[in-house]
Order: sequence, then structure tokens, then C-alpha cells
Amino acid sequence: MSGETLLHIDGQPVRVKAGSSVAAALRVAGAMGVARSSVTGQPRAPFCGMGVCQECRVRIDGRQRLACQAVCAEGMRVETSA
Ligand code: FES
Repeated sequence: MSGETLLHIDGQPVRVKAGSSVAAALRVAGAMGVARSSVTGQPRAPFCGMGVCQECRVRIDGRQRLACQAVCAEGMRVETSA
């Protein structure tokens, strides 16, 4: 479908509006955060949305990146356990 991008998050297909950030795609997919936690066990998730907090680290096509700074691309593979 035109205007949409299909990617995979932790193996699950997710379709988002073209131009969406990977952080937005995580929300569309229902992911409440990334698969990491603080030293006290608190879940981590995108926070600042502008590349400062580093809380949105994921692995995209095998490389660690910030979800809020990456634009979704067709066929992209995102792993939240970066
Ligand atoms: S949400 Fe803060 S760096 Fe991505």
C-alpha cells in the first residue's frame, strides 16, 4: 500500500506511515519500551525523542542505533534487545 512502510519488530510485521521514526513504530507495535532495564529493574523506553537520553537503543538490521533518530525503511528488521 502506498504511503506505508512494512518493517519487522522482534520478528513481528508492523506497518507504519511512511517517514515514521522507529520509536513511533515501537508504539504502533504496542511495545512499551526496549528490552532493557535500569540497574533497579525499571523498564527503559524512548524518552526525549531527540537523540539525547539514549533510552531508545535498539538493533536495526544488525547495528545498534537510536530508535528516535532512525526513519523506518521497507523491510527493516528491528530488535528491541540491543
Ligand atoms: S528517545 Fe532519547 S535518545 Fe531516543
